[in-house]
Amino acid sequence: MEKTKILIVEDEEVYRKVLSNTLREHGLDVQATESGEEAWELIKQHRFPLIISDIRLSGKISGMDILRDAKELYNPSVLMITAFGEIEMAVEAMKLGAFDYITKPFEVEDILKNIDRMILQQKIISDHLLPSGLEELSKNAGIVGSSRKMCDLMNMALKAANTDATILITGESGTGKELIAKAIYQNSSRKGREFVAINCATLTDEFLESALFGHVKGSYTGAIKDKIGLFEKADGGTLFMDEVGDISKSIQAKILRVLQEREYIPLGSTETKKANVRIIAATNKELLESVKNGEFREDLYYRLNVINIVMPPLRERKPDIPLLINHFIKKFNDKLNRKVAPIAPEIEEILMEYDWPGNIRELENVIERAMVLCPGNKISRKHLPGSIIPGKGDVPSITIAPGTPWKEAEKELIMQTLQLTKGNKQEAAKMLGISLRKIEYRVKEWGITCGQKANGN
Ligand SMILES: Nc1ncnc2c1ncn2[C@@H]1O[C@H](COP(=O)(O)OP(=O)(O)OP(=O)(O)O)[C@@H](O)[C@H]1O
Ligand SMILES: [Mg+2]
Repeated sequence: MEKTKILIVEDEEVYRKVLSNTLREHGLDVQATESGEEAWELIKQHRFPLIISDIRLSGKISGMDILRDAKELYNPSVLMITAFGEIEMAVEAMKLGAFDYITKPFEVEDILKNIDRMILQQKIISDHLLPSGLEELSKNAGIVGSSRKMCDLMNMALKAANTDATILITGESGTGKELIAKAIYQNSSRKGREFVAINCATLTDEFLESALFGHVKGSYTGAIKDKIGLFEKADGGTLFMDEVGDISKSIQAKILRVLQEREYIPLGSTETKKANVRIIAATNKELLESVKNGEFREDLYYRLNVINIVMPPLRERKPDIPLLINHFIKKFNDKLNRKVAPIAPEIEEILMEYDWPGNIRELENVIERAMVLCPGNKISRKHLPGSIIPGKGDVPSITIAPGTPWKEAEKELIMQTLQLTKGNKQEAAKMLGISLRKIEYRVKEWGITCGQKANGN
């Protein structure tokens, strides 16, 4: 097999030699140079899949230039070397698509660990992330998808995983934010340490503060004994803060403090505690909007948003639908001890046409419901909810019989309107004269109740 080519750009001779020797011994085809100018010529000629470059170089072309230009030319995996204290440049490099950065002085093992992951990344890029490549990445996390969007996203997540940078995952409800957060954790160096998740939207300020930071006995009514918080529980590990867009200003200030100072004070205590926690935050809100209208602190937004992973809605990655359907049929065959067959083409077509306002969660529920409803092994049209079957013509017309329970009527109306607006919730909210929040809330609720109903049957 041909050896993988790697280019080392480093103006300090000692480091250049150590790196060259180590990587040659590791079985790579190594070229090394001290100059950015020469590096750029070599890159144009050979298109090295792997590049290691110092951020600062003595000549006119810096490591950042090489990173930016090489990324534009093709898609190499680039590892940056920084000196101590260059963290801002390192973050900038990550934004430009660096695979990762390491700080001098470094251990040979740090390099090799990164190199193996870069080779995997290149394999995935060159395979155009075929399902097999993705599988490798997401084996434990159970993430399905091979659309371009999903592949880019997984690459991004993999790149982000091994930095300790705070990550903000945004996307509509049901798009897989929690799933990707777990995948990031499982591919990070904090794997094996604690992964703690908290939903910030469901707790009052007092409870949220106590849950995150802990409290001392008597700090509020009901605090009958000392309690450690999640920052302490997740020490050395990862804290997943879900629905982070819903936290109040006062808690925002406290979280900002942890991110800035890496320390916090438990509720009712006077003692400061250290926090060694990687934060992954998620929200289905447009946080930047919340920043603009003053609901969310701008400084906290930028602290959280060091790396932003945007989960696309399912309607923007429809090629993944067949894979997801298979995945869920398999999942529920196991769970329900059934032998339901792969979906027929005409049913698949209906599911491909629909816009999935509730995203993957809704698809999952529709499959589970259909499997529960179908007596044999074949899912047919009548096992699908009426709201997803295309009506006659463009405008679906609904008849809601008098006496239909309000909840059902509401659901039918909202779902049909969403179909009309091709899943655009803002537009649907406007047409129906209700708040966007209400639609989002309902869609999420149905995602869950559909599943429960199906289970109960
Ligand atoms: N790519 C995927 N492959 C397989 N299953 C997925 C995928 N993405 C999401 N799911 C499934 O869809 C459901 C919803 O995913 P998840 O809870 O991660 O979404 P979310 O974005 O956090 O939603 P919410 O904003 O409502 O909390 C879960 O059951 C999850 O397992
Ligand atoms: Mg979630």
